[in-house]
Amino acid sequence: MRNIPYAKHDITENDVDSVTSVLKSGFLTGGENVVLFEENFRKYVQSEYALSVSSGTAGLHLAVKALGIPKDKFVLLPSLTFAATANAVLYSGGNIEFIDIDPQTLLMDINIIEKRLLQNPDKYAGIITVDYAGLPSDVIKLKTICDKYKLWLIEDAAHSLGGVLNDDLVGNAKYSDITVFSFHPAKHITTGEGGMITTNNPKLYEKIKLSRSHNMDRSKQQSSEEGWYYEIDDVGYNYRMSDINASLGNSQLSRINENLSNRRRLADRYTKAFENNKNIKLQSNIPNGLNAYHLYTTQVKNRKGMYDYLKSKGIYAQVHYVPLHMQPAYAKYFNASDSPLTNTENYYAGCLSIPMFPTLSLEDQDYVIGEINNFLNI
Ligand SMILES: Cc1ncc(COP(=O)(O)O)c(C=O)c1O
Repeated sequence: MRNIPYAKHDITENDVDSVTSVLKSGFLTGGENVVLFEENFRKYVQSEYALSVSSGTAGLHLAVKALGIPKDKFVLLPSLTFAATANAVLYSGGNIEFIDIDPQTLLMDINIIEKRLLQNPDKYAGIITVDYAGLPSDVIKLKTICDKYKLWLIEDAAHSLGGVLNDDLVGNAKYSDITVFSFHPAKHITTGEGGMITTNNPKLYEKIKLSRSHNMDRSKQQSSEEGWYYEIDDVGYNYRMSDINASLGNSQLSRINENLSNRRRLADRYTKAFENNKNIKLQSNIPNGLNAYHLYTTQVKNRKGMYDYLKSKGIYAQVHYVPLHMQPAYAKYFNASDSPLTNTENYYAGCLSIPMFPTLSLEDQDYVIGEINNFLNI
């Protein structure tokens, strides 16, 4: 029986060798692999700065902390996301308000954001946009809105490493104040656990670099003889990435183009197989960008039936996500009359992410397509 997951990491001998070499070196953390990974990542996405972190969640938390949420202000974000997007705001003492998705792109509906801001221009501190499934958010439009209402903008790019908007790679931070990536094993590249923050703002870079490591500032020497001195003027965190993780990330990043072209080839094949089938709905693309395809999402009428059927055939599809406003922990931030989330709820009712990972063989993909067609034609 086949065993085809919805996502799968890819570890090569080179990955193993690079991790082993760190284990044999003198530095397990705070060494040159972290610096090298940050430099290579920064060059890849073409941002001014990159800071590695222990997870995407940690990265989002540091990003929100650095940008700040004045007391009683709210942050706009989608309900169709992983818990970490909202948690980053809640850890920082802020309030959240959910925005419904556009039913075609599955990204936050920017018209709703504008309406909300028009109604209540002083209520908000910032926006976190999520590049759902790998489709880049329209950060150009969002930045214009943020400038108008004096809001900050974070791009949660956990799904979209390699995504492109108007020839710019996601993470080049031209439009968002901060972009955050995740290197969880289901993502494009993995460090086991880990993440990366990119920004073009030197002040944010310095601030986040300090708070990533307990806000221990070694530049504030009392005198040149006191090489041991450091100062802590705010409570920080240990959100550093180790050299073991960074060496894996570096090795993985060297294969990103191959990874992306495999994902895009698989996505094209799925799209061709299903685009004319009225029993299955696909995420639409944007005219001025490229999806990075962390996920390949579908919507069907009988989701539970398709999930169970595929499982019986050794195909392990997944639901992304149970919307946050439907989770007990976040339900109190949802107000159906003020801000209905109808498109999010409709999407959740039928969504299923089908296998998408760079080492998925064409033969296995044909098997998946065949079984989905078998199910849809029952
Ligand atoms: C949209 C989104 N944001 C944030 C995260 C958090 O990343 P991590 O798991 O690296 O903490 C994830 C991870 O699954 C995610 O999917």
